[in-house]
Amino acid sequence: MYDEIIRFIRKIYGTGKPVPLHEPRFSGNEKKYLLDCIDSTYVSSVGEYVSGFEKRIKEYCGSPYAVATVNGTSALHLALILAGVKPGEMVITQPLTFIATANAVLCCGASPLFIDVDRETMGLSPGKLAEYLKANSKTGDDGYTYHSVSGQLIRACLPMHTFGHPGRMDELNDVCTKYNITVVEDSAEAIGSRYKGRHAGTLGAIGVLSFNGNKIITTGGGGMILTDNADVAKRAKHLTTQAKIPHRWEFAHDEAGYNYRMPNINAALGCAQMEKLDLFLEKKRTLAETYKKFFDGTGIPFFIEPEHCRSNYWLNCIFMKDREERDRFLQFSNDNGVMTRPAWNLVTTLPMYKNALSGNLDNARWIEERLVNIPSSVVDIET
Ligand SMILES: Cc1ncc(COP(=O)(O)O)c(C=O)c1O
Repeated sequence: MYDEIIRFIRKIYGTGKPVPLHEPRFSGNEKKYLLDCIDSTYVSSVGEYVSGFEKRIKEYCGSPYAVATVNGTSALHLALILAGVKPGEMVITQPLTFIATANAVLCCGASPLFIDVDRETMGLSPGKLAEYLKANSKTGDDGYTYHSVSGQLIRACLPMHTFGHPGRMDELNDVCTKYNITVVEDSAEAIGSRYKGRHAGTLGAIGVLSFNGNKIITTGGGGMILTDNADVAKRAKHLTTQAKIPHRWEFAHDEAGYNYRMPNINAALGCAQMEKLDLFLEKKRTLAETYKKFFDGTGIPFFIEPEHCRSNYWLNCIFMKDREERDRFLQFSNDNGVMTRPAWNLVTTLPMYKNALSGNLDNARWIEERLVNIPSSVVDIET
């Protein structure tokens, strides 16, 4: 059976060479815009391509404001600051995520509180969150929610749209509204994904995208903060540019900011990639359908987009019977030049987070033990 899977993947990608998990595709105006950017000499933090890229993302996502950053990690850090997270406070997130999600919480001097995911979405579970908060929190005189054991104010909730599949955002927003907790979406993996017709990252107070080289479109390194709040957007731009007060020659800064602004040369790449996004998404959905049909005949479940969602299928996922079978398949496929990988080790198992507070994490463990990502690069499949 493993042999058959490998043959099928090789047939899709039409190559006897190693098949990567997700590689970028540059088939449009990338070189043209990059050369233009170099010729202009504006390759750094000032230039037309940055505002152009922000405009394209804003329009595409239906987000009133978009602020470009050097990467998704810095965007996450800043998004939490903008959500008002302060040292000593708590931020709820999921254990099944890339490390950057949890690290952003620590970068703010706050503590993560880990809540399980749902198996159907792989995203933060609103049901489990409601259950946990009911049993483990109380409302303060100031109207905020405090953790009953640690006494910390629970400021924000940071769900992540796992492998591009949106979580149950309506229910999650309802729970967070009830407990006066700000929702910040880690949509790093979810460009092009929609929940009830709305783009991922526009469903909470603030959202974050990543344009790392392994994402569907890339700027080399890059990120974006999405918000519908003009003040938040203004402050985001200010903080990404060292909190410098705009002036033609003076260097004055009104707070401790960051050098988080996306360089123009990266944005030039992003503008070209945006022109291809819809085409890439179409091809990725065809790939997912092709995989689904194949795996239906194998007894190995293939993860499909959750209810109410139109997913980008960033990284396709299959579920093996148990950890041993998962590891056997990982070994076989990688030995045979087809790159596959397991889900991330749960963040709660890593040394920095093993003492963090958490709820019951059964679903995250179940997924971690079985999930395998299979090659998902944009590919041309005849339909
Ligand atoms: C869920 C998630 N959050 C955050 C990031 C960080 O983004 P970046 O690599 O652009 O810093 C990534 C991955 O790249 C991610 O997958």
